[in-house]
Amino acid sequence: RISYVNGRYVPHADAMVHIEDRGYQFADGVYEVCEIRHGYIVDITRHLDRLNRSLGELRITWPMSRQAMIHVIRETARRNKVRNGLFYLQVTRGVARRDHVFPAEGTKPSLVITAKSTDPAVIAKKNANGIKAITVPDNRWDRVDIKTVGLLSNALVRQQAKEAGAQEAIYVDANGCVKEGAATNVWMVDADGTLITRPAEHGILRGITRTTLMDVAEKLDLRIAERNFTVAEMLAAREVFITAATSICFPVVSIDGQTIANGHPGTISQNIREAFFDVAE
Ligand code: PDD
Repeated sequence: RISYVNGRYVPHADAMVHIEDRGYQFADGVYEVCEIRHGYIVDITRHLDRLNRSLGELRITWPMSRQAMIHVIRETARRNKVRNGLFYLQVTRGVARRDHVFPAEGTKPSLVITAKSTDPAVIAKKNANGIKAITVPDNRWDRVDIKTVGLLSNALVRQQAKEAGAQEAIYVDANGCVKEGAATNVWMVDADGTLITRPAEHGILRGITRTTLMDVAEKLDLRIAERNFTVAEMLAAREVFITAATSICFPVVSIDGQTIANGHPGTISQNIREAFFDVAE
């Protein structure tokens, strides 16, 4: 495996950043995960637009031009022979002696890019069987709309899910309304077949898969409502599914040990998944 670190392609085992990188000390950085399908990067424009927003919110400068970054992403995928898989991209504020305030102007942001193939059999299995989830109170900071590498809560609740025999943890707000998964957005389908997901203005990450799925739903003539919904509504839903670049769309068949609908993946999420790559750019 070959990875890109600050201007160099290096063997993955030697891909290092300095111990005083602010990503390491303060989680002072942002990231993107993007799917590669048939050698082609899915929704790259939307991912880089969101990266631009994340960098702007943290006041980190672009480490290189957008065009150059696309080139490095493609080259990293090529060197790893990734036809179907993911790339991971991380930009931090760079290396400086530990101090909470920003380092001197001119400190170069760090850029790391990795790419790996995914196993289609693993994805097919999750899709055929559906996944299990648990609900957890949201204990994150209130700027989760920024895709930062500060993912400690997300990691802890995913582990909690695993120990409960589930694959995702769903964050719930103080009013009992569903927010999002540890690394996914959450959707439910009501009795009328309307797709419901939480508005992305506040309190969740605006997932790229979520945005593209809205285009897909329109193409399939499905109704969408962006509104808050409670855990009770979700448990009584016709279908529940989660979306992310890593999985596109996985059906959720059990939450907190309660079966959703008949316990089998629903047809609407299946149809969406099949139509997704016709619509994604
Ligand atoms: N996670 N919400 C959270 C908290 C996420 O971390 C993610 C993505 C999403 C879905 O966003 P998108 O559709 O753009 O992938 C929602 C990535 C995949 C990760 O951390 O691995």
